[in-house]
Amino acid sequence: MGGKYTPVMRTTVAIIGAGPAGLLLARLLDAAGVDSVVLESRDRAYVERRQRAGILEQGTADALRAAGAGGRMDREGLPHAGIELRFARRRHRVDFPSLTGGRSVLVYAQTEVCKDLIALRLSGGGPLLFGAEALAVEDAETHRPRVRYRHEGREGVVECAYVAGCDGFWGVSRRAVPPALVQTYERTYPFAWLGVLADVPPSHDELVYARHDRGFALLSQRTPTVSRLYLQVPEGTDAADWSHGDIWDELERRTGTDDGWRLRRGPITAASVTPMRSYVHEPMRHGRLFLTGDAAHIVPPTGAKGLNLAVGDVVTLARALVAHHATGDPAGLDAYSATCLRRVWQAERFSYAMTAMLHRHPDATPFDDRLQLAQLDRIATTRSAEADLAEAYTGFPLD
Ligand code: FAD
Ligand code: DHB
Repeated sequence: MGGKYTPVMRTTVAIIGAGPAGLLLARLLDAAGVDSVVLESRDRAYVERRQRAGILEQGTADALRAAGAGGRMDREGLPHAGIELRFARRRHRVDFPSLTGGRSVLVYAQTEVCKDLIALRLSGGGPLLFGAEALAVEDAETHRPRVRYRHEGREGVVECAYVAGCDGFWGVSRRAVPPALVQTYERTYPFAWLGVLADVPPSHDELVYARHDRGFALLSQRTPTVSRLYLQVPEGTDAADWSHGDIWDELERRTGTDDGWRLRRGPITAASVTPMRSYVHEPMRHGRLFLTGDAAHIVPPTGAKGLNLAVGDVVTLARALVAHHATGDPAGLDAYSATCLRRVWQAERFSYAMTAMLHRHPDATPFDDRLQLAQLDRIATTRSAEADLAEAYTGFPLD
């Protein structure tokens, strides 16, 4: 849009939120010739820098390619054919292709996915307004829902045929659903992740998920010269409580092995703490309002499912919206919530199981410790258990 706009905009789909869900939906609608308006409360620099996910399932990467957003991802993304589990100073590699019939994942940061989708939208797609905060979704039960928003100090309205609530866990979309029609399911965890970025090449060529009596640690990566690292810390921890030296010492303790492997240290350039939560809001549809991604469900990050679920929702929704808009066929929209929720609950199950297997609960007893080690040992020695992990990690089908 130019600098001026009227307080009332009319479009087919009002999209609230320019995270991966809203941006990909906008792109898929642009490609199908369905017009949309994207409202994003934050500015572009913030959206493009917010450090979050790093692992794309094969289905997610395929969806981005099909949307025309795979060029840089395929040049710069790092294909990974496995992960390493560490426990009791041992290491066990899980080989994805041999366990899943050829599937693997791609390391390509969410920041980069968002940059690519923003560039596509701004070079010829419909409007994408940064600094535009949705205030409320109204009349979602009717054929003409509305989104009230504030942009540059003025209030405006988007009148539309459908609303996509892609505004993450803290957004406003969910509030438009009457509480009597909603069932929510939630679990919080008494720990969090301290995540850091460091200017140092990864210490291992694949991701390392480590279970230790002092807590979980994850060695991930962003590029051949930038590492992304996580430590389990108590809920409520402030990132400033940890000196950089203490972070490296703790990562080394929790990921150490007896075979001479060394952790590479380097300058830490960013540190933040992420709380852990499991949450599902059912149903994911209310009238003409469709919730997607973190607006409808949250998984704890162990297992890397959040972004991938958001993409799954949006692929399902885009197909259904395009069909309904073109032919009036309601089947896809009617099936939207149930189709997504099956996939969501599989991801909830897996993310919970990975979290429980790898994190130290503050009330854990020696018995609990032994159960975790027995579970890891089973994965390391039993092909069916290992294949179960590999299949879930590399992804659930998008339909
Ligand atoms: P969001 O990314 O939260 O986007 C929502 C957007 O809506 C935001 O831009 C927000 O500013 C905007 N918004 C909010 N309210 C309003 C409003 N009122 N009006 C307008 N705009 C609004 N997932 C993975 O798949 N793999 C991983 O490896 C992984 N690792 C993670 C690591 C960490 C540390 C964290 C925190 C998350 C991780 N995730 C991972 C989860 C993943 O980042 C999220 O699931 C993903 O961002 C969801 O995308 P979304 O578009 O649904 O929501
Ligand atoms: C990353 C995040 C995760 O939650 C995960 O399981 C693997 C990798 C990451 O940010 O790189």
